[in-house]
Amino acid sequence: MKIIMLGAPGAGKGTQAKMIAAKYDIPHISTGDIFRANIKNGTELGKKAKEYMDKGLLVPDELVVDLVIDRFKEDDCKNGYVLDGFPRTIPQAEALDAALSAMGDKMDYAINVEVPDENIINRMSGRRACVGCGATYHIKYNAPKTEGKCDTCGADLILRDDDKPETVINRLNVYHEQTQPLIDYYTNKGIIAEVDGTQDMNDVFNAIVSILGE
Ligand code: AP5
Repeated sequence: MKIIMLGAPGAGKGTQAKMIAAKYDIPHISTGDIFRANIKNGTELGKKAKEYMDKGLLVPDELVVDLVIDRFKEDDCKNGYVLDGFPRTIPQAEALDAALSAMGDKMDYAINVEVPDENIINRMSGRRACVGCGATYHIKYNAPKTEGKCDTCGADLILRDDDKPETVINRLNVYHEQTQPLIDYYTNKGIIAEVDGTQDMNDVFNAIVSILGE
């Protein structure tokens, strides 16, 4: 099963993608996580990506497309995968389609997690990310057992640089301009599914499972 997660920054794509990956035993491929790992490791890609991410802008398509296409050709992706944060522009979606069709393959679902802008800033300011393993929490909706520490690896939890309110507003503008058109793109392909992302995380997940099947 090959799935794309769509939705505004902070809509809960990452939260749901991790749950989908665990239930259906497929890899979770997050371009944001890949860039953050490169930033942490001080790679050239990380240095370039950080310039854009810190401003709330998209990393240029040419730095993203090959990275993802190479990733889903790996062995662990043979039964499918869940893409989180990719594609994010129409050219990225077209490059993805071209790569899949060259393999005689196609995407199965594009799940749009719908959350109004008003809810997003509140969610982002409460998000905390683990500096060790990248796990995500929310101080109110998904709090860690010990404040400021990751339940999984015990490392510190931080506010992401791009979760500051002024950057979140830029990210939302970029989302509406460049990523939201993908909803029409995948509607036209007949693979879009909408879920209400304002519900409790488990209810959002149940709605997704009812689309994907047990
Ligand atoms: P990326 O990491 O992909 O960020 P994003 O799309 O902005 O999404 P987020 O990770 O911020 O949010 P999410 O929807 O995953 O929400 P989450 O589950 O964490 O990308 C970062 C940057 O990298 C981009 O800005 C760009 O610069 C660059 N980039 C990445 N991919 C790119 C690409 N393809 N092309 C170009 N540039 C690219 O949830 C948010 C919070 O809400 C959490 O605290 C969570 O606990 C909480 N929460 C989740 N669900 C619920 C719920 N139902 N109720 C209450 N709280 C909830």
